[in-house]
Amino acid sequence: MKIGILSSGGDCPGINATIRGVGKTAMNYYGMDVIGICDGFEGLLNKEFISLDDKALSGLLSLGGTILGTSREKPFKKLLDKTDDTKPQLIIENYKKLDLDCLVCIGGNGTQKTANKVSQLGLNVIGIPKTIDNDVYGTDVTFGFYSAVDIATEAIDRLHSTASSHKRVMVIELMGHKAGWITLYAGMAGGADVILLPELGCDIAKVNKAILNRSKKDKPYSIVAVGEGLELEGSGGKNVRPASRLSKLIEEGTGLETRETILGYVQRGGSPSAFDRNLATRLGGHAAELIAKGQFGRMVSMINDQIISVPLEKVAGKLRLVTPDHDLIAQGKRMGISFGV
Ligand code: F6P
Repeated sequence: MKIGILSSGGDCPGINATIRGVGKTAMNYYGMDVIGICDGFEGLLNKEFISLDDKALSGLLSLGGTILGTSREKPFKKLLDKTDDTKPQLIIENYKKLDLDCLVCIGGNGTQKTANKVSQLGLNVIGIPKTIDNDVYGTDVTFGFYSAVDIATEAIDRLHSTASSHKRVMVIELMGHKAGWITLYAGMAGGADVILLPELGCDIAKVNKAILNRSKKDKPYSIVAVGEGLELEGSGGKNVRPASRLSKLIEEGTGLETRETILGYVQRGGSPSAFDRNLATRLGGHAAELIAKGQFGRMVSMINDQIISVPLEKVAGKLRLVTPDHDLIAQGKRMGISFGV
């Protein structure tokens, strides 16, 4: 058998570990040939690929980013309300020209949606979920997430000393798109005093009250962790970041000096954590196993610590968001952490 692997969408720590996991298992255990498609679906449309032999798959476990490159190409995107079928046709053609028996798509929600469409074209596809945002439906966790949480937690740790020295409020904005997973996990692990999640929204009066209450207890400094997807009233459109808007509203409402930090892409770069390396390796191995068994149209996933797979059609187009009854939120509330609601 011959398989092609591509990575698509935003990068994250652990993609290379996955390529290694799929590739080495496919080659060494199942005797398959493996190629890497460059730059996601863009590479498939342009027939750009590299052969992946044992040497090419060495040294990848701890390497950040993706050796295959990535893009946000969406070949099934509607143009003027109509699906342009030139690109889907080209995908079928190039899959055949490359002599593939399966296409492995490493990516987040958008990629799994595209993978499902490719599968519906009649091609053999396996999806592997990846994203720092942790918002892929059908799996308990995605690799990249805990690596990003580690980076964000360290950043919050470092804000504590400068916040208390200057008696300031520090607002830190964390990634996650519409999901608050990184903000919740890093906020709790970093000991933030206020944690604001896009899923819960926020009442600024409650945020200011929580900060002033700390001040009354002789703690004139606070850390506020906010998810980039939080929508605040009066932010005047998309261009005002929640951290900037919040800093202004907190300073006005409390009279305390407030500063903002937008952590950004450092959350996505660099080496995966040990957990993410092992998750990526296990998912990669399971993907190769499914291919060998001829079980296509599925996304590998981790549920209750077990590596399983789910049909792509059950995952496509769905998001996994933080729910208000999450145990970390309940525990945070019991300890007096404000969630701004
Ligand atoms: O999905 C991962 C992610 O890093 C989000 O957290 C963020 O909103 C987005 O990608 C940024 O995307 P881009 O790479 O297009 O700037």
